[in-house]
Amino acid sequence: MSDPTRALSTSFLQKLHAIVGDAGLVQDEQAKAACDVDWLKKWQGVSSAVVRPANTAEVAAVMRLCHETRTPVVTQGGNTGMSGGATPDDSGAQLILSTTRLKQIREVDPLNNTVTVEAGVLLANVQSAADDVNRYFPLSLGSEGSCTIGGNLATNAGGIAVLRYGNTRDLVLGIEVVLPNGDIWNGLRALRKDNTGYSLRDLFIGSEGTLGVVTAAVLKLFPKPTTRLSAWLGCDDMDALLEVLARMRNDCGDRLVAFEMLTEDALALVLEHVTDVRRPLAGKHPYHALVELADTRDAELGSLLESVLEKAMEDGLVQDAAIGANLAQRQAFWKVREGISQAQVRAGKAIKHDIALPISSLPGFVDRAVDAVKQVKPDARVINFGHMGDGNLHFNVLVPLDTPDAELKSWIHALNRVVHDLVSASNGSISAEHGVGQLRRDELRHYKSETEFGLMMLIKQSLDPNQIMNPGKLI
Ligand code: FAD
Ligand code: MLT
Ligand code: ZN
Repeated sequence: MSDPTRALSTSFLQKLHAIVGDAGLVQDEQAKAACDVDWLKKWQGVSSAVVRPANTAEVAAVMRLCHETRTPVVTQGGNTGMSGGATPDDSGAQLILSTTRLKQIREVDPLNNTVTVEAGVLLANVQSAADDVNRYFPLSLGSEGSCTIGGNLATNAGGIAVLRYGNTRDLVLGIEVVLPNGDIWNGLRALRKDNTGYSLRDLFIGSEGTLGVVTAAVLKLFPKPTTRLSAWLGCDDMDALLEVLARMRNDCGDRLVAFEMLTEDALALVLEHVTDVRRPLAGKHPYHALVELADTRDAELGSLLESVLEKAMEDGLVQDAAIGANLAQRQAFWKVREGISQAQVRAGKAIKHDIALPISSLPGFVDRAVDAVKQVKPDARVINFGHMGDGNLHFNVLVPLDTPDAELKSWIHALNRVVHDLVSASNGSISAEHGVGQLRRDELRHYKSETEFGLMMLIKQSLDPNQIMNPGKLI
């Protein structure tokens, strides 16, 4: 491994220190080491240093210095990403720019239904700020206590309420970005209509730190739901789930907020590896769904949900169901669903596929993909779950923890190829919500057309001609 101190000259460090002061340079070795590895402990890098600017002006000054010295920069928020996007390479040359000190909530405007926050604000804190003014910020992820708004924008995060409210991109009105040369673009417009040319905002959303550093954003707020109900369903197959989803969308309209799917195998993994969870239904079922309804009025959500589920059971689509009427029951259901990430980490090494397909293609895809995976690796354990209401599956393949990395490498490529070829055949996406990062960079190159990839390269080269922003990621 390279000498981590090799790349940074004393004069560069002194200049960095002059910009951010003691509090802005991570000196503690343990704290720095935590930034060099990702949440999954899958990617281990070696950064030259970790800098934590306190405001946009400091970010701009750091970027100007990096521009002048051609220093590569990896922007890092909460470091909860699933694709290795926030982890430096092992050269010891890449500087981590951590946004954790950009944590001001600059403005809450309940009449305009907006909140303006800095990039390092935790998602959970944005949700609370909205709640404090009787509004609702709907982005919701299992990592919401640790991930940042900047990271959410940079990955265009999805989560469990996309069905009703859209992805992060749909929740952003304006952004502030520091460009690779240190210029600040203040695009913090709190407008729902603005057709003054190209949507530059959308270039940066989902760009995974490869085009600039997002320093702040104006986010949309929504009326706060006052009633919520969750239900856990047990079904025989995905076709049945698909029909239940279609009926619920029709019958419940916008009140249907989440429609999450997990297989019995995914549920078993959680029951085995996560504490304080229990099986939501008495028996086993090949497929499970966790659905949630919410409304801003104290509407008859209970009777609506009961009638939809009764009919689905009469028609043989749902074998068993339980309604979580109170907060404790709802939280128990969600604890099971959100335990899957942690359970996978404890249970083995996961080869992750974060895919999106037209919702109607999901059942056929799953049958074909399970067969294809078994042909490559007959003893593989498929852990299939995800945001079915959005057509987004986490179609993961799990192998035992003690599988040597060399052995793993020998068939990862083949597994990715069979799964992603099937996704591509359905005109789907090989990267739905977790970002491309370093995990799917080669896959992206393989599946994008020359024209589309060429357009992306044109944008990258115009905004970051010296290729200092997150090299080795996404593009
Ligand atoms: P980081 O991990 O620090 O960075 C992610 C990427 O964004 C990197 O490429 C980084 O360079 C870039 N970046 C970060 N901040 C900035 C910035 N200010 N400017 C420019 N680039 C930046 N994701 C989902 O979409 N849906 C889920 O349901 C979901 N569930 C999760 C559950 C768990 C338990 C965990 C651990 C993760 C989950 N994730 C999920 C993944 C992850 O939380 C999201 O991708 C999140 O958006 C990352 O935010 P972060 O602040 O941790 O970003
Ligand atoms: C989820 O939906 O739980 C996540 O995106 C996390 C994962 O894939 O592990
Ligand atoms: Zn997810």
